[in-house]
Amino acid sequence: MAFNIVVGAQWGDEGKGRVVDLLAAEADYVARYSGGDNAGHTVTVGEQTFKLHLIPSGVIQPHTVGLLGNGMVINPAVLLSEMEQLRQAGVVINPERVRISYAAHVITPGHRALDKAREMARGEDKIGTTQRGIGPAYNDKAARSGIRMEAVLSQETFADAIEAHIEKINQQLTALYNAPPLDAKSVAQEYAGYARALAPYVGDVSTLLAEALESGKSVLAEGAQGTLLDLDHGTYPFVTSSTPTAPGVLVGLGVGVGKTNRVIGVTKAFQTRVGEGPFPTEVFGDAAIRLRGTGDNPWDEFGTTTGRPRRVGWLDAVLLRYAVRVNGLTELALTKLDILTNLDPLRICMGYKANGETLENLPLGPSDLSPFEPVYEELPGWEKDVWEVREWDDLPPQAQEYVQRIESLVGLPVKLVSVGPERDQIIQC
Ligand code: GDP
Ligand code: IMO
Ligand code: MG
Repeated sequence: MAFNIVVGAQWGDEGKGRVVDLLAAEADYVARYSGGDNAGHTVTVGEQTFKLHLIPSGVIQPHTVGLLGNGMVINPAVLLSEMEQLRQAGVVINPERVRISYAAHVITPGHRALDKAREMARGEDKIGTTQRGIGPAYNDKAARSGIRMEAVLSQETFADAIEAHIEKINQQLTALYNAPPLDAKSVAQEYAGYARALAPYVGDVSTLLAEALESGKSVLAEGAQGTLLDLDHGTYPFVTSSTPTAPGVLVGLGVGVGKTNRVIGVTKAFQTRVGEGPFPTEVFGDAAIRLRGTGDNPWDEFGTTTGRPRRVGWLDAVLLRYAVRVNGLTELALTKLDILTNLDPLRICMGYKANGETLENLPLGPSDLSPFEPVYEELPGWEKDVWEVREWDDLPPQAQEYVQRIESLVGLPVKLVSVGPERDQIIQC
């Protein structure tokens, strides 16, 4: 039995999808436990590139079963279209291969409209959400007024519930935000169709996992978003509305404490963020274009879900140390080392300066990072192209030094280094 977790150690988009795809080779079940289609996970296998939003990236490995846990919020329209796209790409998707927790929550067009209206109303203070309805859906969950996936099993009452829900949201849209109401009846009709299509996939993920672990199967939990977007532990209020950190796995899948083995934190070799909020090591101008790319390559830093350019900066070891602590990471997977080739010198933020003092750790968590000035350490860059490197010993010494410096700054081993998006562009250390 193995129960391993892959979690984002930064602000999302660390390359979790590609790491999960790799580790899924050894897993029987791959399970998403939080978030919804705000996530965009890219997996490149040969000529094919998959962009997954709801279905775990592990399903690209044909022997796995993909699970959508109770901690998720699911837009049925997005899920069904993702299933279709995967089928067209040759991935088998049927109720034996994909199971959805009865306790996951449903996202509706009402949630999406509210997300948009609330962002508009915030004006300058907007969060920069993906506008996928994530916040409003988790709002309804916490307010105990949400609709859960189990509702699709009673198709007559499901349509009525959706209609009543949209009518309630319409009151908010019109009265609070001066936004146009939705057509509740047509949404209800549309959702009745989704219910018929999704009912065979809905089941009890928690029990399924308990039985799987009991019989010695191997489970991989696939994080979405990242540590610094966690509702409690992230850069609040510029966060998402769920618990992407590793403890969210237990709640979001219904698995007891004490079952987990490896907790793998995925981090880029530099730092990115999409949306608003603090980013102490952010760089601008030419330096930013150098790290972001211009959009010519599929891996350039433009959001998988929204296409927005990602903000970029130097690796922040203070925030990475924090991620190690709140997740209980056991190891790191370092992605996009190839992007640093030909950059000299390289910089890593090893501390924050405040009141003439250099701090190694955050005094009050990561919500307000404005008083801090990053303290950088410079390391020599390398010129050798690492794209084809597959063995640690073949990395240029400066690249080895960069990876080893990260290990010593955060006190954890880097077990995987990726040097390109393709499945085999990985160095096992
Ligand atoms: P996720 O949300 O954490 O799964 O990450 P995304 O898929 O949103 O963003 C990561 C991007 O980087 C994708 O376009 C990947 O194909 C790409 N990628 C992952 N690892 C590497 C790498 O080592 N090098 C390069 N050049 N691209 C990578
Ligand atoms: P993956 O799984 C990067 C960000 C949004 C915004 C904030 C809140 O691909 O790493 P939300 O729509 O969740 O209410 O937006 O969170 N965000 C992500 N950023 N990667 C993601 O997912 C994200 N999911 C949400 O940009 O700043
Ligand atoms: Mg992503």
